[in-house]
Amino acid sequence: MYVLLIFSSILILCANGGLTVKCPETPSKWCETKEIAQACNVIEQCQLYIWKVQDKNDKVNLTLYYETLCPDCRKFMTTELWKAYQTIFDIVNITLVPYGNAHETYQPATQLYQYVCQHGAQECLGNVIHTCVLNYYPTIQQHMPFVYCTESSSGDVTTIASQCAEKSKMDFNKIFNCTQSKLGNQLQHIYAVQTENLQPAHKYVPWITINGQHTEEMEHEAERNLIKLICKSYKVV
Ligand SMILES: *[C@@H]1O[C@H](CO)[C@@H](O)[C@H](O)[C@H]1NC(C)=O
Ligand SMILES: *[C@@H]1O[C@H](CO)[C@@H](O)[C@H](O)[C@H]1NC(C)=O
Ligand SMILES: *[C@@H]1O[C@H](CO)[C@@H](O)[C@H](O)[C@H]1NC(C)=O
Repeated sequence: MYVLLIFSSILILCANGGLTVKCPETPSKWCETKEIAQACNVIEQCQLYIWKVQDKNDKVNLTLYYETLCPDCRKFMTTELWKAYQTIFDIVNITLVPYGNAHETYQPATQLYQYVCQHGAQECLGNVIHTCVLNYYPTIQQHMPFVYCTESSSGDVTTIASQCAEKSKMDFNKIFNCTQSKLGNQLQHIYAVQTENLQPAHKYVPWITINGQHTEEMEHEAERNLIKLICKSYKVV
């Protein structure tokens, strides 16, 4: 709530921007660098409320285990997760793990893993597209708009990914190459292992952990009001 208040005051201050670096429209970008903060005229606010907080490294670790075409994952990612990302990004460290209820088998002949996904081959493709995007665009500010875009659209997975990549200023050829390569296959395997090693084992998706912990109660609260859950988990030291 605090953060929301700050953002509305930042919004007013930003009207005086217009130095060499332009002040971005999205408030979540204003404290990204000193130059941007200066252009937005919010150096003091960033220092007080964002950078100081970030320096403390006490962000709540939120990890989401999901698969790209599951309706409940789409719902969670385009509502609760998206809202949390847009409002309290400075107190939460969001990690995405695209794999979910998929299964893998190692194929000695090709030395590749073969994937079977709950919602079919299109979902496996969607998962590996997200996997490659997370690899090339590792920060949440880089990949979250793409993830939101794909999860809020339905239709042919490749077409949507290509449109969302263009919107998010990503190189789709590079991403698509990765999905067809050994690299993409190996990266997907890392997420498979991470998902399969969950303690307790995941029983459904979406499945969240907060600072490595998962309970039924947390999951329900995350799906009802993720911001509240994260704020509650955030320890002010
Ligand atoms: C979040 O994860 C990082 C890296 O594993 C760890 O250093 C940090 O202490 C964790 N934060 C909390 C609040 O547990
Ligand atoms: C964020 O989470 C990732 C993956 O769990 C971890 O490697 C990283 O250290 C965390 N960063 C912070 C600031 O907690
Ligand atoms: C994609 O792969 C093709 C064939 O391997 C290669 O010619 C092309 O340069 C690659 N494109 C990118 C953007 O990596």
